[in-house]
Formats: sequence, structure tokens, C-alpha cells
Amino acid sequence: MVCLGNICRSPLADGLMRKKINDNKLDVIVDSAGTSGIHAGESPDFRMCQTAKKFGTSIDDLRSRKFIIEDFDNFDVIYVMDKSNKSNILQLARNEEDKKKVQLILNQTYPGQNIEVPDPYYGGEEGFIEVYHFLDKATDCILEKIKNNELF
Ligand code: 4NP
Repeated sequence: MVCLGNICRSPLADGLMRKKINDNKLDVIVDSAGTSGIHAGESPDFRMCQTAKKFGTSIDDLRSRKFIIEDFDNFDVIYVMDKSNKSNILQLARNEEDKKKVQLILNQTYPGQNIEVPDPYYGGEEGFIEVYHFLDKATDCILEKIKNNELF
């Protein structure tokens, strides 16, 4: 799960996906990173932590890190939150195989529509709640695909 700062959107996507994977006793590694390292080492934004908690998921223990090239080797799919994340990650891709792994996460929920998860960082609480609902639905879709062996 990748966004810009790895303190708002991608930690929530990461936390929701990890919880669903654990609840379903599946063996899948989930992680998140930012295209920028400016918040590396930090906890998720407190507003995102509060929103996640309000709906039953704790993301307090996650820590921000910058995306690294090895992530292309270590993960089968790289879900990005918006088109800017996508172009930043595609610039790092070494080959077609890397490029194929990069997908806008909301294309899970809204196939082919290229809808972006809005960046809530500079806005109010309602933005964080909107992000929550977007990512809860998208991670539900990913979970169903994993269960049905349809992810690839
Ligand atoms: P995120 O949100 O990419 O969802 O983690 C942001 C976090 C920090 C900044 C921008 C977006 N920032 O400019 O510091």
C-alpha cells in the first residue's frame, strides 16, 4: 500500500488489509510505504489513527517508511492511492514486470475508472472518514479476490 507520506492513506489501507487477512487466517504479507521519506519513522497521523480506531482497527503501531526498489521484489501487487503515487512508483520500475504490479487501489472497487483516494492531510475530519470508507471497500474487494485466488 503506497501513498505520498505513508502517514494517512496507505497506513490505513495497510491496517485494514492486515486485520482482514488475520481475521480470515490467510497467509499474506501486507505492508505500506510512502513515495516521499519526509515522515519516515513517524506514527500514522493522529487523525487517521483516531478514525481507524473509531471503526475498530488500530494502526497506532505502524511506522512510516520510504518505498524502496526491493519492494518490487518482495511484493506481488503494489496498490497506490492516486495517480501521482502511480507515476512516482512507475518511474522507479526496472522492467515491465515491476510496472504490471502497480495498480490504483480504487480500481478494485470501481474497475477501470481510475478514481483516486483523496489526500486528507490538509482537510478536516470528514476527509479522513471518506478515506476510511473508500479503503474499507477496496480492501474488502482485495480480500475476496485473495480468497477466490483471483488476485493475479
Ligand atoms: P498521505 O498524506 O500521503 O496519505 O500519507 C500526506 C501526508 C503528509 C503530507 C502530504 C500528504 N505532507 O505534505 O507532509
